[in-house]
Amino acid sequence: MNESKTLPDPASGRVRVLSEPVARKIAAGEVIDRPFAAVRELLDNAIDSGADEITLTLEGGGIEGIAVRDNGCGMIREDLEICWLPHATSKIESMEDLESVRTLGFRGEALSSMAACSRLEIVSSRNEKAFRLTIHGGKMLELISHRGAPGTSVTVKGLFYNMPARRRFLKSSRGEITMCRRIFLEKAAAHPEVAFRLFIDGVLKNYLPVSSPLERIPAAWPRLAPPSSWWETQAEGDGFRITAVHARPEISRKDRQYIQIYANRRRIDEFALVQAVQYAYDAWMPGGAFPTAFIFIDVDPSLVDFNIHPAKKEARFRNLPAIRHRLVEVLKDRLTGESYQIRAETAQNGGAQQTFSNEAASPVSPGFTRPAAVRRDSKDAEEFGDVVAGRKLERFSPRPLEKNSDFKYLGQVMGVFLVAESSESLFIIDQHAAHERILYEKFRKASKSPERLLIPRVLKPDKTAGMKLELRKDRLSALGLEIEKGGNGEWLLTALPGTAKDLEDSVLSFLEEGAGDAEGLEKALWADLACKAAVKDNSPLDTAAATRLVQEAFALEVPRCPHGRPIWFEVSRRELFELVGRTV
Ligand SMILES: Nc1ncnc2c1ncn2[C@@H]1O[C@H](COP(=O)(O)OP(=O)(O)OP(=O)(O)O)[C@@H](O)[C@H]1O
Ligand SMILES: [Mg+2]
Repeated sequence: MNESKTLPDPASGRVRVLSEPVARKIAAGEVIDRPFAAVRELLDNAIDSGADEITLTLEGGGIEGIAVRDNGCGMIREDLEICWLPHATSKIESMEDLESVRTLGFRGEALSSMAACSRLEIVSSRNEKAFRLTIHGGKMLELISHRGAPGTSVTVKGLFYNMPARRRFLKSSRGEITMCRRIFLEKAAAHPEVAFRLFIDGVLKNYLPVSSPLERIPAAWPRLAPPSSWWETQAEGDGFRITAVHARPEISRKDRQYIQIYANRRRIDEFALVQAVQYAYDAWMPGGAFPTAFIFIDVDPSLVDFNIHPAKKEARFRNLPAIRHRLVEVLKDRLTGESYQIRAETAQNGGAQQTFSNEAASPVSPGFTRPAAVRRDSKDAEEFGDVVAGRKLERFSPRPLEKNSDFKYLGQVMGVFLVAESSESLFIIDQHAAHERILYEKFRKASKSPERLLIPRVLKPDKTAGMKLELRKDRLSALGLEIEKGGNGEWLLTALPGTAKDLEDSVLSFLEEGAGDAEGLEKALWADLACKAAVKDNSPLDTAAATRLVQEAFALEVPRCPHGRPIWFEVSRRELFELVGRTV
């Protein structure tokens, strides 16, 4: 054993002050622990410089090289000379300045941390004079005149080359790249007024031109939702402003990864606001499904403190309850407005001019007012496509019908849809989605009193699911689900709520998989059971059963399945006429 060599012997040891370079490395460990941290700090500096074009280049997972070039204010020789020293900053002078700081940086630590653990080179140009500074492992090697365009370019090579232990802890270059790219996209999301480029090992991976927030998010994450599924919603409150770029509820996810909160353009962890978004979407996607929303909050700097986390990932708001309340309110308004307003508008103006309520000014809308007789040359056909696309969105927000509206059930098509008509519209109803929501509401409202099973069922969860069962035992019991610990990591299901009597197998697999998170457990359970119990595709339904299903679906308060998808698609008589080019 060689442990005795590495552990200091307390008996022979003397108290020593760490040498300065060592002390600096320890501080560096807090700010820069992985390549993505260097990426974050360099991008922050570039943004703070007032640049409107920023390029990030990564080599070998960022471990070999990270370079950020900006066209911002640059530095004069004297600034360059000291910018890499600990606590050197141009952004604040005193603690009081923190009350009004608008820049992303303020500690004067980032460059010094990087300088200590890499080969750092900064080329910066201001007032048409450029200089190059080279620092290796915290030692300045040279500062010389150089060529350079206005702005700054910082290169970090061989991260932790002088700290082998830390270098060994880095992930594979692919793992590091994923994290660096995530940081890049988050910075780009919060700064749409800046153009961003990302090169990875010489290949251009992202080019995000200057744009609006509503354009930037889909450009940065094109696979999250089609561009037309995004909304931008704004609101103000006392000392803060909210800009939400969020997807319609039919875009649901299995996790909260894309409920992102930004405060004064920094991504932060603020669970209360993540929950606020979920809460606002709750009626539309109640069952273990999560919305997609980027929430940008601009707060008066005196009402927020970022100086509590080394990576500034946490913020302490003085007015969090007010922000939370306003956020829920404004998102809900948007969601309900979207669902119900269209119909109201159409009814009000007799359908003479139908516009997609919140996108009246968008280029999709003008087609709605075209004369009914349509000539279809090729350009027209394109626009016509737009009209149909626009309408499709409109129908994605079905609203509940009037109580006891008359309808006639016409039949089942494609083994999946039920078709019904009212005096003014044709409805195409997704039988599974409709049944799922109906069952979900029933489960949710039904009594949770447990009914004992004659023969307990055996659960064989894996280790993690087993731990979750342990933690959730009491909550499950409140839902009428009784479980007991058996031997060998097995559990016994001894009682079920009456509602789930016929769904023993589904409950069993739900518990074994450890599905859902603690607070969404109940909803996730009912949604899961509803999904499993709902009528499947290609199941024939007799007329009486189908009619009942349609009737119950039309009576739903929120006509969406528990995952947020709309339950039916409505085509009005007027639209049908228009589609075949007839005058109404
Ligand atoms: N890209 C850049 N363009 C212009 N000046 C820069 C740039 N990068 C750094 N600087 C200057 O160097 C100083 C030190 O940068 P550093 O990142 O270490 O600290 P900071 O940004 O002030 O605070 P923090 O440690 O919170 O990031 C900055 O305050 C700024 O004046
Ligand atoms: Mg900085």
